[in-house]
Amino acid sequence: MRINNKIGGIVEIEIKDLAYDGKSVGSLEGKIIFLNGGLPGEKVRAQVVKKKARYSVGKVIEILEKSTDRSDAACPHFDICGGCTWQDLEYSKQLRYKRKQVVDCLEHIGRLKEVEVPDTIPVSDPFYYRNKMEFSFNVPDDDFRLGLHKRGRFDQIFDIHQCLLQSPASNEIVAWLREYVKENRIPVYDVLKHEGFIRFLVIREGKQTGQTMLNLVTTSGVIPESEKLVKSALERFPQIKTIVRNINDQRSNIARGESEEVLFGPGYIEEIILGYTFRIYANSFFQTNSIQAATLYGKAIEFLRPDKSDRLLDLYCGAGTIGICVSGLVGEVIGIESEVSAVKAAVENAEINKIDNISFHTGQVEKILRNQPEISKGVNCVIVDPPRAGLHPKALKKLIELDLPRVVYVSCNPATFSRDAAALVEAGYRMNKVIPVDMFPHTMHIEIVAGFYK
Ligand SMILES: C[S@@+](CC[C@H](N)C(=O)[O-])C[C@H]1O[C@@H](n2cnc3c(N)ncnc32)[C@H](O)[C@@H]1O
Repeated sequence: MRINNKIGGIVEIEIKDLAYDGKSVGSLEGKIIFLNGGLPGEKVRAQVVKKKARYSVGKVIEILEKSTDRSDAACPHFDICGGCTWQDLEYSKQLRYKRKQVVDCLEHIGRLKEVEVPDTIPVSDPFYYRNKMEFSFNVPDDDFRLGLHKRGRFDQIFDIHQCLLQSPASNEIVAWLREYVKENRIPVYDVLKHEGFIRFLVIREGKQTGQTMLNLVTTSGVIPESEKLVKSALERFPQIKTIVRNINDQRSNIARGESEEVLFGPGYIEEIILGYTFRIYANSFFQTNSIQAATLYGKAIEFLRPDKSDRLLDLYCGAGTIGICVSGLVGEVIGIESEVSAVKAAVENAEINKIDNISFHTGQVEKILRNQPEISKGVNCVIVDPPRAGLHPKALKKLIELDLPRVVYVSCNPATFSRDAAALVEAGYRMNKVIPVDMFPHTMHIEIVAGFYK
């Protein structure tokens, strides 16, 4: 074939390696090209989407020569779905690639070579593990769809019938709502025209409690006969504990609203981790794999080496989960979190678990540590669990200034973790071991946890 290596052009690439964020790496005109798919040893046809002085970025269109690591995917939607891009990799191989990603990041980004990285801790069941799924509505023609995004398409949805990620019951809920919306002629939102009413169905499930939340994300306006909708849902699915509605009138196609209305029940469901009960609201962060969250938190607690005299900071504490799980092993826990609804949940979670040695502060870690030094006074250890971007530079600087003997770092991004880890090591911390914990089978994502000591 003719090779056109300009932007938009089609090229054939041999994949040499996987990059730190799960992207694959090949070479184009003697420079690196990062691709959104493919495995080492594979030859792919790809479209060039970006060209920079030192590298290019491309999108895989077709795998021309498949790696022997690939096998058949279990999901009937695998070929079009944007979700489980690694589902055709046997699970043990996914774990191996994930560990490699961590090792590569530590070496190339953190320049940290002598770190032990044990095998990735697997999940007990790589299917039906998610406790939260967002299903989108869209109107591609005179019919409508309720399902997931097609691979690489923000504007195209396909009807999902059998997703293997959440639960068989959640597939039934999707099928029921699709029919209900059709029969009752509820206007569906069109992402390109920015018009219509119903935008997303978000289902949250407590894996240990069996409780289910339906969150309907709509534009503003009245839900036609909302009582009928609630009644119909509860008759079919008695496990539903609450139904809420989020109102999003913005163009940004996100499944959360500027305001929320509770249509049925308390507005939250409950989940249990390490014996503690947690309330989950529609918009509060909660680890998506609650079964494996227990493993992750267990490892974080091991790295912490808790003591009854400890005064612990739980930074980026979300709904207070880690702090509450460790509260019985330390003297005091102080949580800091920016999301108001998560802090509300955290306070309630402390109450329902009858924990009185924990307090929470709402705000950004980088600002609270700087502007309210009294909060971190007397603290001698910390657990940080920041979002994918890692620690804010000001938070990292402040953390280093606090000079705490024990820092435990939980991260969902080995690249930003390695950057921050290098700074902590530079500041005199020892870090000998990073444990990869798989929370997201069939995706390239990996969670890690490590301890830093002085
Ligand atoms: C990866 S989650 C961890 C939550 C919690 N530790 C858990 O395991 O459920 C990161 C949390 O950081 C919060 N967050 C993001 N940026 C923040 C900031 N600058 N300051 C404080 N919290 C922040 C998010 O709202 C989210 O709850």
